[in-house]
Parts: sequence; structure tokens; C-alpha cells
Amino acid sequence: MELSYMDLREQICDVCHKMWQLGWVAANDGNVSVKLEDGTFLATPTGISKSFITPEKLVHIDKTGAVLDALEGFRPSSEIKMHLRCYEEREDVGAVLHAHPPVATGYAVANKPLDEYSMIETVIAIGSIPVTPYGTPSTYEVPEAIAPYLGEHDVVLLQNHGALAVGSDVLTAYYRMETLELFAKISLNAHLLGGAVEIPRDKIEQLISMRGAYGVTGKHPGYKKYS
Ligand code: 13P
Repeated sequence: MELSYMDLREQICDVCHKMWQLGWVAANDGNVSVKLEDGTFLATPTGISKSFITPEKLVHIDKTGAVLDALEGFRPSSEIKMHLRCYEEREDVGAVLHAHPPVATGYAVANKPLDEYSMIETVIAIGSIPVTPYGTPSTYEVPEAIAPYLGEHDVVLLQNHGALAVGSDVLTAYYRMETLELFAKISLNAHLLGGAVEIPRDKIEQLISMRGAYGVTGKHPGYKKYS
């Protein structure tokens, strides 16, 4: 269903509120952006708690990050270069979400990819999740670090930082972040119980071939290990 411009602004705020309610962000952490039909973007402003964000606070920017429309004093997220690089690399990407979900971010901080193919839903929905190299927030180091991974990943961990999910729309990107965090929790539990049992290679291929039937869109790796 095509959303009106105002409904889209509301939906972005709903997602921001959920990110805060779920404990994926503290203080001003996290940012969200969405691509509009005319190739411009709506983005969360820098320095605002995602719990208090309201539709009029979102900033309208062009593909260089220049502000087209914003309330006085509101500037786009300091991580907008990272967001814009996702859209540059991937024509199919319509929304980008960055957060610090605590268990997935634990893996990012420990520099451990979530690349065990041990849980069927995750194999189908997002595949393996790499840790992209360290980048200083707000600099071009971050887009440079993630770019090589965007060709075959919709979800990545940012080393020592957090997580990034892209999708055709904001709900798809949000659901991918949910899937990431749940898988991180499950993986940690499995680790406490002695380690996950991996799915046999031929069964993984079978699950991957079922993505179409489940309506899974985007770019997800096949069988790929990072460690
Ligand atoms: P912004 O408030 O500039 O979006 O930054 C939040 C953040 O999480 C930086 O990584």
C-alpha cells in the first residue's frame, strides 16, 4: 500500500519509537532515513532522542545531504553519509536504519560475525551477518567500510559501534533489525549452552532456495563464513 507523505513521516517516527522502546538506542543514538519517489530523502535529525521524535522534526534532504526543508535549527543525522552511500550502492534500497541493539552490538564490539547458519528463520531472512571494519562515526570512513558489503548484505554489524539494516521500505529495514537482534540473542544463548549446532550444508542451500516462496527481497548472502 502506497503511504501518503504525512503517513510516511508518521511511520518513520513509529519505527524510531519502537527502536527506543526495545532498548536499541540510548539518548540520541540511532538514525533512520527513507528515499522518496523523486530521489530526495527524509532523515531523522541529529541530536534528538528517537523516543521524542515527531513527524515535523524529520528533515528533507537531497542526495548530497543538503537540507531542502527542515524546522529551524534541525540538521540531518551526523551519519547521513553512511545512509546516502547505501542508496548510492543499491538502487533497490528505499530505507536505512542504524541502531545499537545491545546483543547484536555485543557481537560488533567483540568483532564476531553472526555467520553460523544455525537458525532457519535467519538463514532465510538475512543470511550471515559480517562485521564491517571500524570507522569513525560521521566521517567517510563509515561509508567506505560498509560499501564492499552492501552488494550482498542487507544487514551488517559496524565494528565497535552497532548495526545497520537496509530495505525496500522502512518496515522491511526495521524487521531486518529485529531479526538480527533476536538471532544475536539466540546465538548467545546457544553459546552459553555449549555452542550452536549448524544446519547441514545441503539443508542451508534448500532454505536459501525457499526465499522466493517466502517473499524475501533484497540481497542476502548464500553460504558464507567470515571467521
Ligand atoms: P545522530 O544523532 O547524528 O543521528 O547520531 C546518532 C548516532 O547513533 C551516531 O552513530
